[in-house]
Amino acid sequence: MQEKFYLTTAIDYVNGAPHIGHAYEKILSDVIIRHKRQLTDNAYMLTGTDEHGIKIQKTAGEKGITPKELCDENFSKFEEAWKELEISYDQIIRTTDEQHKRVVKQIFKKIYENGDIYKHSYKGLYCAGCETFLNPKDLTEDGLCPVHMKKPEEVTEENYFFRLSKYKEKIANHIKTHPEFIQPSIRVNEILNQLENIEDISVSRTKASVQWGIGVDGDDTQTIYVWIDALSNYITAIGYDIENPSEKFNKLWPANVHVIGKDIIKFHSIYWSAILMSLGLPLANTIFAHGWITIDQSKMSKSLGNVIAPHTVLEAFNLEKPDAFRYYMASAALSGKDGNYSDEDFKEKVNADLANNIGNLLNRTLNMLVKYFEGEIKPEFVSNNNSKIAILAENTKKQVIEHFNHYEIAEASNTIVSFADAVNKYVTETAPWSLAKEEKMIECGQVLYNVLEAMRYIAILIHPYCPNIATDILTQLDEKIDFKYDNLVWGKLKQGKITEKDKIKPVFLRLDSEFATDKKKA
Ligand code: MSP
Repeated sequence: MQEKFYLTTAIDYVNGAPHIGHAYEKILSDVIIRHKRQLTDNAYMLTGTDEHGIKIQKTAGEKGITPKELCDENFSKFEEAWKELEISYDQIIRTTDEQHKRVVKQIFKKIYENGDIYKHSYKGLYCAGCETFLNPKDLTEDGLCPVHMKKPEEVTEENYFFRLSKYKEKIANHIKTHPEFIQPSIRVNEILNQLENIEDISVSRTKASVQWGIGVDGDDTQTIYVWIDALSNYITAIGYDIENPSEKFNKLWPANVHVIGKDIIKFHSIYWSAILMSLGLPLANTIFAHGWITIDQSKMSKSLGNVIAPHTVLEAFNLEKPDAFRYYMASAALSGKDGNYSDEDFKEKVNADLANNIGNLLNRTLNMLVKYFEGEIKPEFVSNNNSKIAILAENTKKQVIEHFNHYEIAEASNTIVSFADAVNKYVTETAPWSLAKEEKMIECGQVLYNVLEAMRYIAILIHPYCPNIATDILTQLDEKIDFKYDNLVWGKLKQGKITEKDKIKPVFLRLDSEFATDKKKA
């Protein structure tokens, strides 16, 4: 049992509604936290929304509403989307929360008092999309921001600056001595290279240019830079306070993992590390940078008109539960790599893995149990943990844990599906229907036992991805609904009569099946 596990996600900008890129990260995070909850009682997930800054101010202005009205409107959309996708966060923070604003002011003051913040007159190029100053050498040939393809704004201001350069060596050293700090490790060199050229950064904007933000205590001409405000959410949410940090904070901090997209790794591994060092707080154990999701191989963008909301997918396929979408997204890309969403691929993958591979296996086996044994598992069917499938089940469990420890979420689901594949092969090879025909009833019962016990493993292992399907599988096995890994012990499958003909139902309907179509019509 691990002591505690504290996971945070990036907090999303609320200048628009959530799309499946945002959903990808929250699903990955939810799958991780649900897996951790199977191992410990103290797993905690924080998510939230990033509500300040010039972008929100501008969008609200264009819409003729106040920034807070825009934030409230879009925050509800995020909340609704996460509910529909069954994202089981423990807490959702908004950077407009009073408690957060109060502590961000304290944090700024403390860093200033430490001598790490100073005032400085500055001329720079600001990209509102990134909410950051850009280095002229990072611009495209036409002088545009390479991410947003927009011309950054020339800004001349007197701002507060943070002595980031002071922490350069210390951060590099931390990265080099903590191989688990940046995951996947292919990102390490990129960060070390960026660190080489790091300079002090501006951490405030004048009130004249950015009104929508947290003010600097004692200087009413300045607004705190949105990234300091945003990054601090990881500690303010759980009760950090300079004078009197809460018990919850002491219990949860440092975070075990910050789950973020690859585009914001610099802010987390460099800026956030330096802030924490200045505050004298330990750094998170791991920053896990996932890749990006494209749509039909194109980057999602408003101008291309290909921004998809997660709800649209569930609606298009008439899915009452989010399991299939969760499963597809969580398996869409190997750790840290980019992935793609397409309707066709979605349909194919969930049909193959959830309906054919896992669903049919359970269905066929339960039907055989009814046909040959009136739905009863007899004591003489029970196999010991040396049987081929038992060994495979145990290995699968170990590999899944190992993958999760390395934030290999798609790799873990592939392992589970490969196990289901192997069990399907075992059924074909042992042909329990032939054994029954030959009246080798004990052997036949033993095969069915192995398969159903394997199904119990699959239900528990797949639970973080597909919580409803996992529940349905356990229900059909007449098991109690408990997904803790303590139950992953071979031979625990319930014995006696566990089912009858009309209790057996498909746990996942093929998206193009007659059943599914009928259901759609209904
Ligand atoms: N507000 C900042 C994060 C502050 S964290 C202290 C931000 N917001 S965002 O809304 O632009 O992005 C939120 C998260 O969604 C980021 O981790 C980002 O990488 C992720 N994604 C946004 N679009 C994405 C895809 N198309 N695919 C996968 N993830 C994407 O950055």
